[in-house]
Amino acid sequence: MHGNKIWSSSLLLIDYIKHIGLTPNAHVLDVGCGWGLAGIYCAQNFNSAVTGVDADDNVFPYLRLHAEINKVKIATIKTKFNGLNRSILNGHEILIGSDICFWENMIKPLRGLIRRAMNNGIKQIILADPGRETFDECVNVFIKREMGELIDWTIKHPHKVQGRIFKYPMSAHG
Ligand SMILES: C[S@@+](CC[C@H](N)C(=O)[O-])C[C@H]1O[C@@H](n2cnc3c(N)ncnc32)[C@H](O)[C@@H]1O
Repeated sequence: MHGNKIWSSSLLLIDYIKHIGLTPNAHVLDVGCGWGLAGIYCAQNFNSAVTGVDADDNVFPYLRLHAEINKVKIATIKTKFNGLNRSILNGHEILIGSDICFWENMIKPLRGLIRRAMNNGIKQIILADPGRETFDECVNVFIKREMGELIDWTIKHPHKVQGRIFKYPMSAHG
């Protein structure tokens, strides 16, 4: 399911997290983590306790190798979005993800996860996407209710990447 490389949206996600900073020592879920670079960044820079979640456990050896090279420990859970239940969500404060809504059939499960996360202890959600219609459709319902916002984000290094970030909660300025 495309967990075969480091996707450019994870670089957008890392840059955005660098820009806003994270609460130190938070429990972070990196959903659809693939090779896990964004979570590794959080562990290294904010001492986050990170769990990488993916439906495909073939990604985890790559995640572990990158974690080892970067001298951090990342826990893993093999499950689809639907498997992230209340008790898992309640043990975490931050949910991150990059490029995890690229098929029509991912819209509802991801939307359901975002809703459960908001209702079960997750204080902050940061999702990056290259700008796919499927992602917009997934998050629009929250934006309409002012339960999050979508912002454009661009990086120039290591190469130009343009995309969008869904963030919850909204900024104080709205
Ligand atoms: C395009 S890759 C992105 C990987 C990583 N986040 C990145 O940006 O490099 C999508 C990832 O989501 C995972 N995935 C796809 N559908 C999923 C689902 N329903 N639940 C959990 N993970 C899923 C895939 O196995 C894959 O690793």
